[in-house]
Amino acid sequence: MSEIVNININSFENVNYPILIGENLLENIEKYLKTYVNADKYFIVTNKTIYKIYKKYLNIKNSKVLVLNDGEKYKNIKTYKKIIDEASKYNINRTDSFVAFGGGVIGDITGFCASTYMRGVKFVQIPTTLLSQVDSSVGGKVAINTNLGKNLLGNFYQPKLVISDISTLKTLNMRNFKTGLAEVLKYAFIQNSISLCDKNNSFFNFLNKNKSKIYNLDKQILIETVKTCCCLKRDVVIKDEKEAGLRAILNFGHTFGHVIENLTHYKKFTHGEAIVYGMNFALNLSYNLGLISKDYLNNSLSFISDYNLINKKLPKFKFNNVLKTMQLDKKVENNKLRFILNNENYMVSIVKDIDIDDLKAVFDTFYK
Ligand code: NAD
Ligand code: GLY
Repeated sequence: MSEIVNININSFENVNYPILIGENLLENIEKYLKTYVNADKYFIVTNKTIYKIYKKYLNIKNSKVLVLNDGEKYKNIKTYKKIIDEASKYNINRTDSFVAFGGGVIGDITGFCASTYMRGVKFVQIPTTLLSQVDSSVGGKVAINTNLGKNLLGNFYQPKLVISDISTLKTLNMRNFKTGLAEVLKYAFIQNSISLCDKNNSFFNFLNKNKSKIYNLDKQILIETVKTCCCLKRDVVIKDEKEAGLRAILNFGHTFGHVIENLTHYKKFTHGEAIVYGMNFALNLSYNLGLISKDYLNNSLSFISDYNLINKKLPKFKFNNVLKTMQLDKKVENNKLRFILNNENYMVSIVKDIDIDDLKAVFDTFYK
Protein backbone atom coordinates (compact mmCIF):
# COMPACT_ATOMS: atom_id res chain seq x y z
CA MET A 1 0.00 0.00 0.00
CA SER A 2 1.29 3.44 -0.68
CA GLU A 3 0.04 6.83 0.20
CA ILE A 4 1.04 9.93 -1.66
CA VAL A 5 0.99 13.39 -0.26
CA ASN A 6 1.18 15.79 -3.14
CA ILE A 7 2.50 19.24 -2.32
CA ASN A 8 2.45 21.67 -5.19
CA ILE A 9 4.92 24.48 -5.27
CA ASN A 10 3.21 26.86 -7.62
CA SER A 11 4.18 30.35 -6.71
CA PHE A 12 7.48 30.67 -8.50
CA GLU A 13 7.51 32.45 -11.77
CA ASN A 14 7.02 29.71 -14.38
CA VAL A 15 7.88 27.02 -11.87
CA ASN A 16 5.42 24.56 -10.48
CA TYR A 17 6.43 21.20 -9.14
CA PRO A 18 4.95 18.49 -6.97
CA ILE A 19 6.65 16.83 -4.02
CA LEU A 20 5.34 13.28 -3.76
CA ILE A 21 5.75 11.89 -0.25
CA GLY A 22 4.80 8.33 0.57
CA GLU A 23 5.73 4.71 1.04
CA ASN A 24 7.04 2.36 -1.66
CA LEU A 25 7.06 5.14 -4.25
CA LEU A 26 10.25 3.77 -5.82
CA GLU A 27 8.19 0.94 -7.31
CA ASN A 28 6.56 3.49 -9.60
CA ILE A 29 9.38 5.88 -10.49
CA GLU A 30 8.86 5.34 -14.20
CA LYS A 31 5.16 6.19 -13.95
CA TYR A 32 5.82 9.40 -11.97
CA LEU A 33 8.54 10.48 -14.38
CA LYS A 34 6.19 9.97 -17.31
CA THR A 35 3.31 11.81 -15.63
CA TYR A 36 5.18 14.79 -14.27
CA VAL A 37 8.31 15.18 -16.41
CA ASN A 38 7.78 13.33 -19.65
CA ALA A 39 11.36 13.68 -20.85
CA ASP A 40 12.73 11.74 -23.79
CA LYS A 41 15.66 10.32 -21.81
CA TYR A 42 16.65 10.26 -18.15
CA PHE A 43 20.20 10.59 -16.88
CA ILE A 44 20.19 9.15 -13.36
CA VAL A 45 23.00 10.02 -10.96
CA THR A 46 23.53 8.02 -7.79
CA ASN A 47 26.38 6.59 -5.69
CA LYS A 48 27.79 3.11 -5.06
CA THR A 49 26.19 2.66 -1.62
CA ILE A 50 22.72 3.57 -2.77
CA TYR A 51 22.99 1.76 -6.10
CA LYS A 52 23.87 -1.47 -4.33
CA ILE A 53 20.63 -1.32 -2.32
CA TYR A 54 18.23 0.21 -4.84
CA LYS A 55 19.53 -0.90 -8.24
CA LYS A 56 16.34 -2.82 -9.02
CA TYR A 57 14.27 0.38 -9.03
CA LEU A 58 16.49 2.09 -11.58
CA ASN A 59 15.70 -0.10 -14.51
CA ILE A 60 13.87 2.66 -16.34
CA LYS A 61 13.16 2.85 -20.05
CA ASN A 62 15.39 5.29 -21.99
CA SER A 63 17.67 5.94 -19.09
CA LYS A 64 21.32 5.72 -18.19
CA VAL A 65 22.65 5.41 -14.65
CA LEU A 66 25.90 7.01 -13.56
CA VAL A 67 27.25 5.61 -10.27
CA LEU A 68 29.60 7.90 -8.35
CA ASN A 69 31.82 7.28 -5.35
CA ASP A 70 30.12 7.93 -2.03
CA GLY A 71 31.02 10.97 0.03
CA GLU A 72 30.97 14.72 0.51
CA LYS A 73 34.56 14.85 -0.72
CA TYR A 74 33.32 13.90 -4.21
CA LYS A 75 30.95 16.91 -4.36
CA ASN A 76 33.63 18.72 -6.32
CA ILE A 77 34.63 20.07 -9.71
CA LYS A 78 36.19 16.76 -10.81
CA THR A 79 32.91 14.91 -10.27
CA TYR A 80 30.99 17.80 -11.87
CA LYS A 81 33.11 17.34 -15.01
CA LYS A 82 32.60 13.60 -14.96
CA ILE A 83 28.80 13.97 -14.78
CA ILE A 84 28.74 16.56 -17.58
CA ASP A 85 31.03 14.43 -19.79
CA GLU A 86 28.89 11.31 -19.26
CA ALA A 87 25.70 13.26 -19.95
CA SER A 88 27.05 14.51 -23.26
CA LYS A 89 28.30 11.03 -24.20
CA TYR A 90 24.72 9.85 -23.69
CA ASN A 91 23.49 12.76 -25.87
CA ILE A 92 21.46 14.33 -23.12
CA ASN A 93 19.82 17.49 -24.41
CA ARG A 94 17.06 19.92 -23.55
CA THR A 95 14.26 17.41 -24.00
CA ASP A 96 15.88 15.11 -21.44
CA SER A 97 16.15 15.18 -17.67
CA PHE A 98 18.76 14.65 -15.00
CA VAL A 99 17.61 12.61 -11.99
CA ALA A 100 19.35 12.77 -8.60
CA PHE A 101 18.88 9.51 -6.71
CA GLY A 102 20.46 9.82 -3.26
CA GLY A 103 21.08 12.09 -0.32
CA GLY A 104 21.99 15.76 -0.24
CA VAL A 105 25.39 15.23 -1.82
CA ILE A 106 23.94 13.59 -4.93
CA GLY A 107 21.04 16.08 -5.03
CA ASP A 108 23.31 19.12 -4.79
CA ILE A 109 25.84 18.06 -7.42
CA THR A 110 23.32 16.63 -9.87
CA GLY A 111 21.17 19.75 -9.55
CA PHE A 112 24.17 21.97 -10.14
CA CYS A 113 25.05 19.99 -13.28
CA ALA A 114 21.45 20.21 -14.51
CA SER A 115 21.41 23.96 -13.92
CA THR A 116 24.49 24.54 -16.07
CA TYR A 117 24.41 21.78 -18.69
CA MET A 118 23.18 23.37 -21.95
CA ARG A 119 22.20 26.40 -19.85
CA GLY A 120 19.80 24.27 -17.88
CA VAL A 121 17.95 21.02 -18.43
CA LYS A 122 15.12 19.38 -16.52
CA PHE A 123 15.95 17.90 -13.17
CA VAL A 124 14.26 15.48 -10.72
CA GLN A 125 15.11 14.90 -7.07
CA ILE A 126 14.62 11.44 -5.53
CA PRO A 127 15.96 12.05 -2.01
CA THR A 128 16.88 8.94 -0.01
CA THR A 129 18.05 10.42 3.32
CA LEU A 130 15.89 12.13 5.92
CA LEU A 131 17.96 15.31 5.57
CA SER A 132 17.43 15.43 1.84
CA GLN A 133 13.71 14.66 2.16
CA VAL A 134 13.04 17.43 4.66
CA ASP A 135 15.47 20.00 3.40
CA SER A 136 17.92 19.78 0.51
CA SER A 137 15.62 18.36 -2.20
CA VAL A 138 13.14 21.22 -1.79
CA GLY A 139 13.70 24.85 -2.63
CA GLY A 140 16.28 24.70 -5.40
CA LYS A 141 19.65 25.31 -3.75
CA VAL A 142 22.23 23.29 -5.70
CA ALA A 143 25.99 23.46 -5.32
CA ILE A 144 29.44 21.91 -5.30
CA ASN A 145 32.40 22.53 -3.00
CA THR A 146 35.75 24.00 -4.05
CA ASN A 147 39.10 24.00 -2.27
CA LEU A 148 38.19 27.38 -0.83
CA GLY A 149 34.81 26.56 0.60
CA LYS A 150 31.72 24.43 0.95
CA ASN A 151 28.96 25.06 -1.59
CA LEU A 152 31.03 27.86 -3.08
CA LEU A 153 29.83 27.20 -6.63
CA GLY A 154 26.09 27.04 -6.73
CA ASN A 155 22.81 28.09 -8.10
CA PHE A 156 19.11 28.38 -7.36
CA TYR A 157 17.53 25.85 -9.68
CA GLN A 158 14.16 24.25 -9.02
CA PRO A 159 13.49 20.60 -9.90
CA LYS A 160 10.51 19.49 -11.98
CA LEU A 161 9.52 16.82 -9.46
CA VAL A 162 10.53 15.52 -6.04
CA ILE A 163 9.80 11.90 -5.06
CA SER A 164 10.33 11.32 -1.34
CA ASP A 165 9.91 7.66 -0.53
CA ILE A 166 10.06 7.26 3.25
CA SER A 167 10.71 3.50 2.80
CA THR A 168 14.30 4.39 1.89
CA LEU A 169 14.85 5.54 5.47
CA LYS A 170 14.79 1.88 6.60
CA THR A 171 18.27 1.34 5.17
CA LEU A 172 19.77 4.58 6.43
CA ASN A 173 22.13 4.22 9.37
CA MET A 174 21.16 5.78 12.70
CA ARG A 175 23.78 8.52 12.55
CA ASN A 176 22.49 9.72 9.18
CA PHE A 177 18.89 9.43 10.35
CA LYS A 178 19.71 11.62 13.35
CA THR A 179 21.40 14.24 11.21
CA GLY A 180 18.12 14.61 9.34
CA LEU A 181 16.23 14.75 12.61
CA ALA A 182 18.26 17.78 13.67
CA GLU A 183 16.88 19.62 10.62
CA VAL A 184 13.40 18.38 11.50
CA LEU A 185 13.65 19.84 15.02
CA LYS A 186 14.84 23.12 13.48
CA TYR A 187 11.46 23.52 11.79
CA ALA A 188 9.70 23.28 15.16
CA PHE A 189 11.52 26.42 16.32
CA ILE A 190 10.76 28.50 13.24
CA GLN A 191 7.25 27.27 12.43
CA ASN A 192 5.30 30.31 13.58
CA SER A 193 7.49 32.74 11.67
CA ILE A 194 6.15 31.26 8.49
CA SER A 195 3.03 33.24 7.94
CA LEU A 196 1.21 30.88 5.62
CA CYS A 197 1.24 28.17 8.27
CA ASP A 198 -0.98 27.77 11.36
CA LYS A 199 -0.12 30.06 14.20
CA ASN A 200 0.26 27.39 16.85
CA ASN A 201 2.87 25.08 18.21
CA SER A 202 1.52 22.06 16.46
CA PHE A 203 4.80 20.77 15.01
CA PHE A 204 6.68 21.17 18.28
CA ASN A 205 3.92 19.25 20.10
CA PHE A 206 3.77 16.65 17.34
CA LEU A 207 7.50 16.00 17.59
CA ASN A 208 7.37 15.88 21.38
CA LYS A 209 4.56 13.34 21.28
CA ASN A 210 5.84 11.11 18.50
CA LYS A 211 9.52 10.67 19.28
CA SER A 212 9.39 6.90 19.72
CA LYS A 213 7.20 6.47 16.64
CA ILE A 214 9.68 8.49 14.60
CA TYR A 215 12.55 6.34 15.85
CA ASN A 216 10.48 3.21 15.10
CA LEU A 217 9.95 4.50 11.55
CA ASP A 218 6.18 4.55 11.89
CA LYS A 219 5.13 5.20 8.32
CA GLN A 220 2.22 7.62 8.93
CA ILE A 221 4.25 9.64 11.39
CA LEU A 222 7.22 9.81 9.03
CA ILE A 223 5.04 10.89 6.13
CA GLU A 224 3.48 13.58 8.34
CA THR A 225 6.92 14.70 9.49
CA VAL A 226 8.40 14.98 5.99
CA LYS A 227 5.23 16.65 4.73
CA THR A 228 5.19 19.30 7.47
CA CYS A 229 8.86 20.14 6.91
CA CYS A 230 8.32 20.40 3.15
CA CYS A 231 5.24 22.61 3.62
CA LEU A 232 7.11 24.91 5.98
CA LYS A 233 10.08 25.09 3.64
CA ARG A 234 7.85 25.66 0.63
CA ASP A 235 6.08 28.53 2.39
CA VAL A 236 9.42 30.21 3.07
CA VAL A 237 10.92 29.59 -0.35
CA ILE A 238 7.95 30.80 -2.38
CA LYS A 239 8.24 34.14 -0.57
CA ASP A 240 12.01 34.45 -0.84
CA GLU A 241 13.49 32.03 -3.36
CA LYS A 242 16.92 33.71 -3.58
CA GLU A 243 17.43 34.34 0.15
CA ALA A 244 17.09 38.10 0.11
CA GLY A 245 15.66 37.96 3.65
CA LEU A 246 13.14 35.50 5.08
CA ARG A 247 14.83 32.35 3.70
CA ALA A 248 17.70 32.92 6.15
CA ILE A 249 15.44 31.63 8.95
CA LEU A 250 15.97 28.14 7.52
CA ASN A 251 19.50 28.56 8.84
CA PHE A 252 18.40 28.65 12.48
CA GLY A 253 21.20 26.94 14.41
CA HIS A 254 23.53 27.00 11.44
CA THR A 255 25.80 29.97 12.32
CA PHE A 256 27.57 28.23 15.18
CA GLY A 257 26.90 24.84 13.50
CA HIS A 258 28.89 25.85 10.42
CA VAL A 259 31.74 27.00 12.65
CA ILE A 260 31.90 23.59 14.32
CA GLU A 261 31.90 21.81 10.96
CA ASN A 262 34.55 24.14 9.57
CA LEU A 263 36.89 23.99 12.59
CA THR A 264 36.69 20.19 12.66
CA HIS A 265 37.21 20.00 8.87
CA TYR A 266 33.80 18.38 8.26
CA LYS A 267 35.13 15.13 9.76
CA LYS A 268 34.20 14.87 13.43
CA PHE A 269 30.55 15.99 13.36
CA THR A 270 27.75 15.41 10.90
CA HIS A 271 25.87 18.53 9.79
CA GLY A 272 22.99 17.62 12.10
CA GLU A 273 25.24 17.08 15.10
CA ALA A 274 26.81 20.48 14.51
CA ILE A 275 23.47 22.24 14.28
CA VAL A 276 22.29 20.64 17.52
CA TYR A 277 25.08 22.64 19.16
CA GLY A 278 24.15 25.57 16.93
CA MET A 279 20.51 25.54 18.06
CA ASN A 280 21.65 25.38 21.69
CA PHE A 281 23.93 28.34 21.05
CA ALA A 282 21.17 30.40 19.43
CA LEU A 283 18.70 29.59 22.22
CA ASN A 284 21.18 30.59 24.94
CA LEU A 285 22.05 33.79 23.09
CA SER A 286 18.34 34.57 22.70
CA TYR A 287 17.88 34.09 26.45
CA ASN A 288 20.88 36.26 27.33
CA LEU A 289 19.54 39.01 25.09
CA GLY A 290 16.16 38.86 26.82
CA LEU A 291 14.28 37.52 23.82
CA ILE A 292 12.99 34.38 25.54
CA SER A 293 12.19 33.40 29.13
CA LYS A 294 14.09 30.88 31.23
CA ASP A 295 11.12 28.48 30.94
CA TYR A 296 11.12 28.74 27.16
CA LEU A 297 14.87 28.16 27.10
CA ASN A 298 14.74 25.11 29.38
CA ASN A 299 11.75 23.64 27.59
CA SER A 300 13.49 24.06 24.24
CA LEU A 301 16.81 22.62 25.42
CA SER A 302 15.04 19.57 26.89
CA PHE A 303 13.09 19.10 23.67
CA ILE A 304 16.37 18.93 21.75
CA SER A 305 18.27 16.78 24.25
CA ASP A 306 15.36 14.32 24.61
CA TYR A 307 15.88 13.45 20.96
CA ASN A 308 19.33 12.24 21.91
CA LEU A 309 20.92 13.35 18.65
CA ILE A 310 24.48 13.66 19.87
CA ASN A 311 26.70 12.30 22.61
CA LYS A 312 29.93 13.81 21.40
CA LYS A 313 31.63 16.61 23.31
CA LEU A 314 32.58 19.87 21.70
CA PRO A 315 36.35 20.08 21.15
CA LYS A 316 38.19 22.82 23.00
CA PHE A 317 37.91 25.63 20.46
CA LYS A 318 39.53 29.05 20.91
CA PHE A 319 36.96 31.86 20.91
CA ASN A 320 39.04 33.93 18.48
CA ASN A 321 38.99 31.12 15.94
CA VAL A 322 35.27 30.72 16.39
CA LEU A 323 34.75 34.41 15.81
CA LYS A 324 36.98 34.50 12.74
CA THR A 325 35.17 31.53 11.26
CA MET A 326 31.78 33.07 12.00
CA GLN A 327 32.90 36.17 10.14
CA LEU A 328 33.60 34.06 7.05
CA ASP A 329 30.03 32.78 7.12
CA LYS A 330 27.40 34.02 4.67
CA LYS A 331 25.46 35.48 7.57
CA VAL A 332 27.82 38.41 7.89
CA GLU A 333 26.43 41.63 6.44
CA ASN A 334 28.59 44.77 6.25
CA ASN A 335 30.99 43.05 8.62
CA LYS A 336 28.26 42.74 11.26
CA LEU A 337 27.31 39.32 12.59
CA ARG A 338 23.80 38.23 11.87
CA PHE A 339 22.05 35.54 13.92
CA ILE A 340 18.72 33.80 13.64
CA LEU A 341 17.44 34.12 17.19
CA ASN A 342 14.42 32.76 19.00
CA ASN A 343 11.36 34.60 20.10
CA GLU A 344 8.69 33.09 22.30
CA ASN A 345 6.01 31.06 20.59
CA TYR A 346 8.24 29.14 18.17
CA MET A 347 9.18 32.16 16.16
CA VAL A 348 12.59 33.44 15.15
CA SER A 349 13.93 36.70 13.86
CA ILE A 350 17.05 37.78 12.05
CA VAL A 351 19.09 39.86 14.46
CA LYS A 352 21.89 41.99 13.05
CA ASP A 353 24.81 43.54 14.84
CA ILE A 354 25.38 41.00 17.61
CA ASP A 355 27.82 42.14 20.26
CA ILE A 356 31.00 40.06 20.50
CA ASP A 357 30.84 40.01 24.31
CA ASP A 358 27.40 38.41 24.09
CA LEU A 359 28.79 35.70 21.82
CA LYS A 360 31.69 35.09 24.18
CA ALA A 361 29.35 34.73 27.17
CA VAL A 362 27.39 31.98 25.41
CA PHE A 363 30.53 30.33 24.08
CA ASP A 364 31.93 30.10 27.63
CA THR A 365 28.82 28.26 28.89
CA PHE A 366 29.73 25.32 26.62
CA TYR A 367 32.90 24.73 28.62
CA LYS A 368 31.59 25.11 32.17
P1 NAD B 1 24.76 12.22 2.00
O1 NAD B 1 24.15 12.55 0.73
O2 NAD B 1 26.25 12.16 2.08
O3 NAD B 1 24.18 10.84 2.52
C1 NAD B 1 24.65 10.32 3.75
C2 NAD B 1 25.11 8.87 3.61
O4 NAD B 1 23.95 8.04 3.50
C3 NAD B 1 25.94 8.58 2.37
O5 NAD B 1 26.93 7.66 2.69
C4 NAD B 1 24.93 7.95 1.40
O6 NAD B 1 25.53 7.09 0.47
C5 NAD B 1 24.07 7.19 2.35
N1 NAD B 1 22.69 6.95 1.93
C6 NAD B 1 21.87 7.79 1.28
N2 NAD B 1 20.64 7.26 1.20
C7 NAD B 1 20.69 6.06 1.79
C8 NAD B 1 19.74 5.04 2.05
N3 NAD B 1 18.45 5.19 1.73
N4 NAD B 1 20.14 3.93 2.68
C9 NAD B 1 21.44 3.78 3.06
N5 NAD B 1 22.38 4.71 2.88
C10 NAD B 1 22.00 5.85 2.24
O7 NAD B 1 24.32 13.23 3.17
P2 NAD B 1 22.97 14.05 3.42
O8 NAD B 1 22.96 14.27 4.89
O9 NAD B 1 21.79 13.45 2.77
O10 NAD B 1 23.26 15.43 2.68
C11 NAD B 1 24.34 16.26 3.05
C12 NAD B 1 24.60 17.20 1.90
O11 NAD B 1 23.45 17.99 1.67
C13 NAD B 1 25.74 18.19 2.15
O12 NAD B 1 26.55 18.21 1.00
C14 NAD B 1 25.05 19.51 2.34
O13 NAD B 1 25.84 20.59 1.90
C15 NAD B 1 23.82 19.34 1.48
N6 NAD B 1 22.67 20.18 1.88
C16 NAD B 1 22.07 20.89 0.91
C17 NAD B 1 20.97 21.66 1.21
C18 NAD B 1 20.27 22.39 0.13
O14 NAD B 1 19.33 23.14 0.41
N7 NAD B 1 20.62 22.19 -1.11
C19 NAD B 1 20.46 21.69 2.51
C20 NAD B 1 21.12 20.93 3.50
C21 NAD B 1 22.23 20.17 3.16
N1 GLY C 1 18.83 24.61 3.66
C1 GLY C 1 18.56 25.99 3.71
C2 GLY C 1 17.90 26.52 2.48
O1 GLY C 1 17.50 25.75 1.63
O2 GLY C 1 17.76 27.69 2.35
